[in-house]
Formats: sequence, structure tokens, C-alpha cells
Amino acid sequence: MNKPNDLAISATDLNDIDSNASHDNHFNSILNARLSRRNWLRGSAVTAATAVMGSMGLSACGGGSDAVAVTPTPTPIPEKLLAFTAVPKSLADVVSVPAGYTATALYALGDSLRAATPAYKNDGSDTDFDNRAGDHHDGMEYYGLSAAGAPLASGAERGLLAMNHEATTDEKLSSHFLHVNGGTTTLPRPAAEVDKEVAVHGLSVVEVKKTGSAWATVNDSAFNRRVTPLTDIEIAGPVRGNALVVTKYSPTGTKTRGTINNCGTGKSPWGSYLSGEENWAGYFTRSSTDNAARGDKSVVSLNRYGRSQGGASRHGWETGGSDDKYARWNLSKIGASANGSDDYRNELNGMGYIVEMDPYDKTKAIRKRTALGRYAHESAAFSVPTVGQQLAVYMGDDSRNEYIYKFVTTAVWAAADANPADRIATGDKYLDSGKLYVAKLAADGTGQWIELAMSNALIQAYSAYKFADLADVLVNARLAADAVGATKMDRPEWCSVNPANGEIYYTLTNNSNRTVNPSGSSQLAPDSANPRAYTDMKGSSAQNGNPNGHIIRFKEGTGAAAATSFTWDVYLFGAESGADASKINLSNLTADQDFSSPDGLAFSPYTGICWIQTDDGAYTDVTNCMMLAAIPGKVGDGAKSTLNYATAAGGNLAVDTFIGKKPTADTLKRFLVGPVGSEITGISETPDGKTMFINIQHPGENTALANIGDPSKYTSQWPANAGYGAGKRPRSATIVITKNDGGRIGS
Ligand code: FEO
Ligand code: CA
Ligand code: CA
Repeated sequence: MNKPNDLAISATDLNDIDSNASHDNHFNSILNARLSRRNWLRGSAVTAATAVMGSMGLSACGGGSDAVAVTPTPTPIPEKLLAFTAVPKSLADVVSVPAGYTATALYALGDSLRAATPAYKNDGSDTDFDNRAGDHHDGMEYYGLSAAGAPLASGAERGLLAMNHEATTDEKLSSHFLHVNGGTTTLPRPAAEVDKEVAVHGLSVVEVKKTGSAWATVNDSAFNRRVTPLTDIEIAGPVRGNALVVTKYSPTGTKTRGTINNCGTGKSPWGSYLSGEENWAGYFTRSSTDNAARGDKSVVSLNRYGRSQGGASRHGWETGGSDDKYARWNLSKIGASANGSDDYRNELNGMGYIVEMDPYDKTKAIRKRTALGRYAHESAAFSVPTVGQQLAVYMGDDSRNEYIYKFVTTAVWAAADANPADRIATGDKYLDSGKLYVAKLAADGTGQWIELAMSNALIQAYSAYKFADLADVLVNARLAADAVGATKMDRPEWCSVNPANGEIYYTLTNNSNRTVNPSGSSQLAPDSANPRAYTDMKGSSAQNGNPNGHIIRFKEGTGAAAATSFTWDVYLFGAESGADASKINLSNLTADQDFSSPDGLAFSPYTGICWIQTDDGAYTDVTNCMMLAAIPGKVGDGAKSTLNYATAAGGNLAVDTFIGKKPTADTLKRFLVGPVGSEITGISETPDGKTMFINIQHPGENTALANIGDPSKYTSQWPANAGYGAGKRPRSATIVITKNDGGRIGS
């Protein structure tokens, strides 16, 4: 979802809810000792890399031609990486890629997934969205198929794209592009409009296939699938069956109705798809007298998760009619039962998880993995699997001043699980039992992972909320993290693990609440891990805080994935290239590298390139959102630095921080700029590294509802203006990127 609103919050901005008022591991040491990362990527040390990684069990699936799951061993890259010419910043309503590359729209909002559903007219009259692509394509993963259509991890010319459909472009309740005349902007909302808007949310799976050099979706593929906010989903892990998730829909507390606001993604080592539920709270309403009706600690929980009493829902879906599927959007305690089995007072506790789906198999239940905690999830990134050792899953909570988390599995990694008979059962094994930790970062460049469990005395003694059991801690992970004094961050978005050395990268997209002279409980002074507070001008509009964001990275200490300590530095600071290099442009970004509000981030398992995508509202007077390619170094390759701020009281606030080695023209370069109003998201590639799929989310989103029907007033007409599809209304879409000479993406 877009972030311009972060700097001027609108009533319907749900992306930025601010509810928080409150040493060497084994793999690293071996790999680093034998190989330099650059040589490894270039392939000049292939033999050593293969030997090392083979001994760590990393080639378990990459070497097997029929393996399904992926823990690929990067193969030698004959080309020089980042050899392309950087793409200039741009305000054009096109997708720009470097010379020698081609980007083509592939799968847009409303595209039919089956033969019986007609082609999208894109004039607001279309229906049957249960069988069409959803809206606001977001995180996405590629799953290979063989030429004959069987699951095959190495399949590079036929496969499945599984993706999130996070939200829908809206104004005054209505998703205006979906309705002929912009839809109804007052309550009650008509059922037909609600049904359409609900159905564009959730997930989709679509088969894609290469014929000659061209990729296309496969209409009516048996794999094609939609999951929506009405799809039956199992609650798995410690929260399953708990009183906190009892609803009229599931009196036993074992399932939820659907998933919503799905943002970042993850791909498990056993080949399943993981989807993070992000800004779910805003879709629900709660009456203005609900606190008194409840009279219990659930009020504390609801407030902490951004749903205070009297809060209006984003679309007014609860007014669609008397059917239960509309009633479920109202969280008010209105039933007479003691346990909530006759209303939806507990409905919010069923949202906010990492959701696991088998992209290859519609018959397998989809599961919410509650052991990983409940918050505004983004991506879920696995540690490099090592046979006989536990796995870590790294995650962030994207709201201002929220936290960074990791989950450590109880089970240790077994090589056979890279190609399991049942991917969801394998998910049960790794994701339903383990420990959830939150990060606390110190000013000296170290940090601690603090377990969120009833055994923690700080959680037991927390005065603001009395936790009952582990399920309560997981459902209220934000409160538990408050209790242990975790570090409030500048909006953690995606994270990814560098396959070369296991280090973990987190984008911290921006934070308007970081200030040298904080007032009120939601404002914070700069600290070492979030060290910038400054003013950036967007035209005549001052943007204060950390408007351009940064990327932090961690190196696990003793114990690798299961470590309870780490070291950290800041890999990159977003900034305008012309900004003050001593205070703002701390990474010395040039005009070919400058960016703002990093969001999507993922290392290619095939080339090792770190892809960085933006969802920005700060630099959009100069450029549309973008994607950059990077070859980072490692934690500690830069220098300690001190930022000095003059305080209102006349003193000096000195903030020590750790700035990673500054990028060069060879290690960071802009690769793509998107159309007007769009966010760039979703990073997925075929396993030969030669095809990349990314998502263009919400082009033209600032188009006013009053202008629906007048294409000349749409702020974007992409992808129609690129020759894709009917009508001129802008559409979120997946694009496919290839290199004209058939080479790997990023070379
Ligand atoms: Fe959906 Fe935090 O971006
Ligand atoms: Ca500016
Ligand atoms: Ca995001």
C-alpha cells in the first residue's frame, strides 16, 4: 500500500497505523574463511562453494532434478553483475528498464483465470472476481513446473506465480475503479459492491508459461486459484482452539474466514507459500460503546492493534446486508454468550498472521501459523537451512515504532524435507512449535533476541495487560514486546537473508514520528539503530522525521539461527543524492542510486543480487517508485559515526551509529522505475535467473473518484498505455522482465 499518506494521514490510510505509545556462526565462519563473496558470485571459487555448501546440506534440492522445494545453490555467473546502465529517475507513466532489457505486462487486475469467465472489460461493469486476478498485487513467489506440468523446483519455462492481493484503490469507502460510476460513498454500501470489493482481496495462483521468448498466463489452468476473505482457513499452532479465537463462524476457535491485506511473502525451504497479513484491523468497525460492553482486557488488546472503539471501517462492508459474511466485519460485543460464539467480538484475533498455502495443491488446507505471532506482518525470510540445526524465520511489524521479530523452530532441518510428500504437513512440523523472539538493539552495535514467553518475568509482571498463556502472548505479541522493552523501529517492512553469509537485511521504510524533541507518547528521539531525524522538502511541503528510510542488517551471534545475540549496522540510508552528506545522505548515494522509502527487499538465490523496491511518497515530486540492484558487503564493513543534533533545550544530542561501507557505482544501481502513482513490489525469478516477475501496485491511485469515467483525468493509464488490455482505468499488474540477449537479470 502506498505511503504518501504516512506523511499526511488520511482517514482511510491503514498502512501506517501508529498504535505503539508505549558472533560468528558456523556457516558464516566456514564460508567466509574460504571464499570472498564476490568471487563466489562470479563463480571463480565454484569448487570450494559447492564443497562447503554440500557439506552443509544446502544442495539437497538444488542438485536434484525432480526436487520440488528450493534451497538453491547459486550457480556461477559468467556475466559481470550490475553491468547494465542505471535507469534515470522518472515521472513518466511507463515502466523503465535498462537498455537491453524488456518489461511486459503479464497479469493484471481482473484478468480471467478460467475459460467460463469473460475477458476483463475494465469499465467498472465486470463481476465474478472469485475467478479473476485480485487487486493490488503485492508479494509474489515463483514455483516451477516441468514441461509436462508437474511440480519441479528447477522448472524455468513453466511455473506458478502465487501472489498477494493486498488492498484496492479507494476513496470515501468505495473502490472507485471497480464500479461503473465510482460506487457508493455513503453507508450502507450495496451488497453487490461489497461482494466485488471483498473478492479482489486475498491471494491468487496463476500458471505462467514461456513459448518461444514470450511469457503468458495459462487461462483455465487447473492450478489457477483464488483465496479471498471468505475462504475457509485453519488456525494452526498454539492459538488453535483458544478462547481468544472463538467466533460465531468457528465456535471451537479452530478456523477463520479468509485472509486480508496480504503484503509481503516468503517461500519455505519445503516449497510452500507464506503470506503476511498486514493492515487488517482497519477493515473492521467497533461501536462507540464497545469498551463498556466488554469491560475486560480485550479493550487493551484492541487499542494496541489500532481498533479503538468508534473506529469506522475502511469500506463499510459490515453494512452490506444481514448475511453473516457482512456481520463479521463488526467487532462489537453484541451477543449474549460468555465466550463470543454468537458474534464477532473475537474476530480480530483471527487476523494478523503468517498464512501458509501449498501453491501446487488446492486440496491442502491453508493454515495460519500462530506460533509466529500476530502483528502487521510483511515478509517471512528463512535462515539458510543447515541439516541438523534449527531454522529461523525473520519477520517485521510494519507500523511506526513497531518491532523486529524472529521465530526459531523446535524441529531441526532434515534434508528430506526439501522435497516432502506433503508440504502443509511439513509446515506443521516446523512452524507450529518453536520460540518467538523480539529484537532489542543496543547503541554499541550489538543486540539481543528476547523470547516472548510466559517464562519471562517481565511478561508475567506487565501491568498494562495480564497474559493468560502462550496463546495470549502470541495473539498480543505487540503487548508482550512492549513488556520486554524491545526497540521501536522506523517501520520494519520486508526482510531477506543474504545466501552468501546468512546476514539478515530489514528495510525500515520511513517514520514521521522520529524527532529530536519528542512530545507525546508516539514520538521518539533518534537512536543508534534509527539515527536520523531531519526535514526533507517535497515542493513547499516539509517532511519531518526519517522520511527516506534506511536498511539495517544483522549478523547472528553464537548459535546461528538459534542465536540470542547479534551485531548490526545500517547497510544503506535512503536519501536524495543532493542532500547533506553529513546528516542525511550518509551513504553518499549518487543520482544513479538515490531512493526513498525502501519496502520490498529480497536476495536472489540465483545471482545473489539484493533487489530493493520502493513504496515512496517523499521523493515522488522528482521520481516514481523504483527498483534497485545491489551487491552488499557485510555487517561491520563500514565505520562508526556520530550524528549531533541541537535540542530545543539548547543542548546537544549525540547519536552513535554504524554506517555500512558506502556503495559504489558497481555495487548499487537503479534498475527500474514504475508508472505514475505505483509502488514496486513482489520479487520472484525463474531458477535459471533469466526471467524476473515483479508487481506494479496501484498505478494512478491518486485519481479522484469524481474523475471516474474521464480517462483524460486518470493520473495513470498504465498498463493500457503499454498496449495491455481493454479500457483506460489503471490496473495493478505483474510484469515479466527478460534480458534481450537471454542473459540473467541484473547482469
Ligand atoms: Fe503493505 Fe508495509 O506494506
Ligand atoms: Ca525532497
Ligand atoms: Ca510492503
